[in-house]
Amino acid sequence: MRNAWWWALTIGFSCAAVAAGAAPPVASPVPDAEVARRVEALLARMTPEEKVGQLTQVAGGLFPDAKPEEALRKGGAGSILWLNDTKKFNELQRVAVEESRLKIPVLFGLDVIHGYRTIFPVPLAMAASWDPAVHERAAAVAAREARAAGIHWTFAPMVDIARDARWGRIVEGAGEDPYLGAAMAAAQVRGFQGPYLGSPERLLACAKHFAAYGAAEGGRDYDPVYVSEGQLRNVHFPPFHAAVVAGVGSFMSAYMDLNDVPAAGNRWLLRDVLKGEWGFPGFVVSDAMGVGNLVTMGFARDRADAARRAVAAGLDMEMASGTFPEHLARLVSEGTVPLAQVDDAVRRVLAVKVRLGLFENPYADESKVASVLADPAHREEARRAAQRSMVLLRNENKLLPLARTVSSLAVIGPLADSKADTEGSWMVFGHVPAAVTVLEGLRAKLPGAKIVHAAGPEIRRQVPSFFDNFAPGPKPKPQTPEEAEAAFQQAVATARGADVVVAVMGELANMSGEAASRASLDLPGRQEELLKALVGLGKPVVLVLLNGRPLSVNWAAENVPAILEAWEPGTEGGNAVADVLFGDANPGGKLPVTFPRAAGHAPLYHARNLTHSPEGAPMYNVRYWDGAPKPLYPFGHGLSYTTFSFANLKVATPRVKAGATAAVTVDVTNTGSVAGDEVAQLYVHQRAGSDSRPLRELKGFRRISLKPKETQAVTFSLGPDELRYWSTSQEKWVQDAEAFDLWVGADSTATLHAELQVVP
Ligand code: NOJ
Repeated sequence: MRNAWWWALTIGFSCAAVAAGAAPPVASPVPDAEVARRVEALLARMTPEEKVGQLTQVAGGLFPDAKPEEALRKGGAGSILWLNDTKKFNELQRVAVEESRLKIPVLFGLDVIHGYRTIFPVPLAMAASWDPAVHERAAAVAAREARAAGIHWTFAPMVDIARDARWGRIVEGAGEDPYLGAAMAAAQVRGFQGPYLGSPERLLACAKHFAAYGAAEGGRDYDPVYVSEGQLRNVHFPPFHAAVVAGVGSFMSAYMDLNDVPAAGNRWLLRDVLKGEWGFPGFVVSDAMGVGNLVTMGFARDRADAARRAVAAGLDMEMASGTFPEHLARLVSEGTVPLAQVDDAVRRVLAVKVRLGLFENPYADESKVASVLADPAHREEARRAAQRSMVLLRNENKLLPLARTVSSLAVIGPLADSKADTEGSWMVFGHVPAAVTVLEGLRAKLPGAKIVHAAGPEIRRQVPSFFDNFAPGPKPKPQTPEEAEAAFQQAVATARGADVVVAVMGELANMSGEAASRASLDLPGRQEELLKALVGLGKPVVLVLLNGRPLSVNWAAENVPAILEAWEPGTEGGNAVADVLFGDANPGGKLPVTFPRAAGHAPLYHARNLTHSPEGAPMYNVRYWDGAPKPLYPFGHGLSYTTFSFANLKVATPRVKAGATAAVTVDVTNTGSVAGDEVAQLYVHQRAGSDSRPLRELKGFRRISLKPKETQAVTFSLGPDELRYWSTSQEKWVQDAEAFDLWVGADSTATLHAELQVVP
């Protein structure tokens, strides 16, 4: 039987992921009534301090003076984070379930973002696969490993829409598009949590950072966000809503001010929308120090006021800042905070613990960890995921795939042999990077060839990353200008004797992620200069990009014959790059973000509104006088070693009543001579309406594999879910009876066109 408590969520809602045929969550084996009975029985026995304890998340290992045992013994900590040590998990759990009065198990949370031991491509790369199933499997592997190690809860997926490539955390999400973002959000929730919350070998997922964190002014991390309700509902909310529909068990509030109200104290966001309108039954945790920050941000008067306002807003658990244990019990006894608010929060946390099965199975099985982490199937999945996430940006004269007969290869660049940068940003604490680098992958692919390597000058952040303090190993000293020059010359000399040059360039892992925004999107350091010198040798050069955000590689896009966007491809990244460069895998990934030509063009995205001087009109290119704002590479772009054509675009019912669904069909043919994948993309534009509508919006996609000369019909559905929107002028959801342009093709500039008329 379906579980009503969890299922109730889906009533009245649907979303891209569900519409695309993904399975909704299924019933938990623990019936609702049983969960409620157990929760109420506990709640009835809890002191105010014990209740606050369940709402308190404390630091485990990161801070040397953290004393989680003491808090657990008193029932003063419901969850622990920043600890990654199976033995210690069990020791602490023993304190919670044997030494605390109520024996409530503790929930261990950690950032398991794109893998635990086996690292998958970064989430932006996974979105570039345009294959939700591959992202779901990646999350399932991450969950299996992390759960075996004793973690219960991951602070993922990050589902923030990011349209500004300067923002460092663009690497952690699915990019610029709400439709693609919703599909990827739901896929990750299913992967992390499994078919129901509490599925074996899975984790509790956490949709973060609610909401609109990616719209920070200037792309500056943590800066305030000003977006309209229409933008929130039409652009930033859909992936969060999709996560709720997929059954996500927890949410994390964002750090910043949203329209002048910090997300962690934003009642409209947390209570009215998330818990009210969407019926979210799980719990909301703040971001780290997020409640204490309400004082720093000039919103709360003091820490007691911060705790009061966070709880009033609907925030259930405080991450690490300690205002709840300091003040909440007293505020309740004084009547400043209604007990009902605290009880509601405690119920939500306890219900998740019951559903996760923590009361029955609180401990990790230390004897099984090593074998789970070493499962070779995980690495196979990571290699496949990396292959599928890569985007072939350019391939002049079919330079790629390279012939296996190539006898000498120079692999040049600062990222060519870096394990940490191949795995990418956001490792779990204590992770030792073990990636196959591009150099190693190429050596494994061509054991008989002469493969030489030089790193060239180092690249380095001007402002060091706070997170570097947690990276294992000694910190290398910066190169002197003389050392950098010598490295430059050596790289050019190394390339001189080779038949083909593979330049592996881009950004270090710590150049994207949290607190890693940039004011430039150019290749950092002397990489472009080195690239020019390599091309100047007159040899075929392939540029392999490792990076976590769009880069304005304008010179390369004109002068380097082949460019492969490999992102930060994870543990098997080097093998997957070698597979793609030599044609063992045919690239089929597509950009989930627009690549601007300059940082000054950001935010740049495909679904912008029309203006009085639309694209193509004479005035379009004078938006800036120092360069056209046309993207370097459009959203959805990606080439293949074969070619595809799109034909016979048909709308089964070109006139539909509002509320009805139209089927849109197109034939996709592999017109080349090798098998390959294409992503059929459906874009719509509503010609007039209650509000101005974007130039184009993605409303359907499907990645398909086609043999040479094979044709496949792809069908999309356009119904109210795709065609309605939140209208600013009407202050409600509307589906206008209007005319729509439809385009289907291989990227957001698709030209194959049809029309749809929605009638009242
Ligand atoms: C801060 C980050 O913003 C968030 O994404 C993360 O989950 C927490 N720290 C916990 O590490």
